[in-house]
Amino acid sequence: MVTILGIETSCDETAAAVVSDGREVHSSVVSSQVDLHARFGGVVPEVASRAHVELISTVIAEALVEAGVDFGDLDAVAACNGPGLAGALLVGVSAAKAIALTAGIPYVAVNHLEAHLYAAWLEEPELELPMAVLIVSGGHTMIVIMEDHGRYRIVGETVDDAAGEAFDKVARFLGLGYPGGPIIDRMSSEGNAAAIAFPRPMLHDGLDFSFSGLKTAVISEVRRRPDLDVADIAASFQEAVVDVLVAKLVTAADEAGARTLVIGGGVSANHRLRTRVLDAGTETGRRVFLPPLALCTDNGAMIAATAWWQMRANGPSPLGGGAYPGLRLPVVG
Ligand code: KG4
Ligand code: ZN
Repeated sequence: MVTILGIETSCDETAAAVVSDGREVHSSVVSSQVDLHARFGGVVPEVASRAHVELISTVIAEALVEAGVDFGDLDAVAACNGPGLAGALLVGVSAAKAIALTAGIPYVAVNHLEAHLYAAWLEEPELELPMAVLIVSGGHTMIVIMEDHGRYRIVGETVDDAAGEAFDKVARFLGLGYPGGPIIDRMSSEGNAAAIAFPRPMLHDGLDFSFSGLKTAVISEVRRRPDLDVADIAASFQEAVVDVLVAKLVTAADEAGARTLVIGGGVSANHRLRTRVLDAGTETGRRVFLPPLALCTDNGAMIAATAWWQMRANGPSPLGGGAYPGLRLPVVG
């Protein structure tokens, strides 16, 4: 059994988890800084870095205690080294390297996007490759064809806002709070998704996405009809986003001959998206992997799980590596 401590500090969650063999989660501690950033309506990088510094030791200690292990029981320590906020990433990377040196164990640097992709496997390790993966978070929206471990092709990306960003911006405009995704998700269950026919941007136009026009459409519709029910706006907006995400994921799977659909990233916690991807799987005879709800948004378990696969394929990472805010998904071809 290989037991790994995974550390995630790329944005506004300080997280650590202990995971064995890429799927047995012994602990997963996430300390969200949402309250610190809410009054600014978004993540403030310097505030995030400082909060990570204050929280990191406690979060790691909690993850170890909850798992009933200490540093001596770990086989490796992993941290997210990008993409993300520079100062925030450095806190996790530095902590992981310090542990690696003092405990005499290997250090593994993990790509945040790859980690979101592996979150679905924490529950289901039987994969049928190639898989079509939709990564939808606050910072990214992309469709990836995974041909093998570490072998990815990006076939679609957003040309402007990320899906999570669109949720957050629309919620902010509607005065609903931050982060907007979970709030719109909740409100939508009481609204009518067919109430307002918002545009489905680029629906039949390749595999790239665009969400900034949809956000503008919501704003102008609300200004034009101030009496609209907020739950109806939320549900109609969410339906437009989900329609586009699911349609393009299925098209990408068709084109790549992928028999498996996977989603990951914060927006993969969205209930409507989960239902619709499951439906799409049933309709097109494909298997669907959804990460457990708690592992959709940023967490340390996905880092530890990815590190396990990565260690098997490539071994540990050099301690000389740094933090890379603009890190891309490693692609082939
Ligand atoms: O993956 P994540 O925790 O951080 C990034 O890597 O960006 O994703 C955060 C994003 C936020 O934009 C948040 O509003 C969105 O995921 N999100 C959701 C839901 N839960 C989180 N969006 C829609 N529905 C949800 N239930
Ligand atoms: Zn993320």
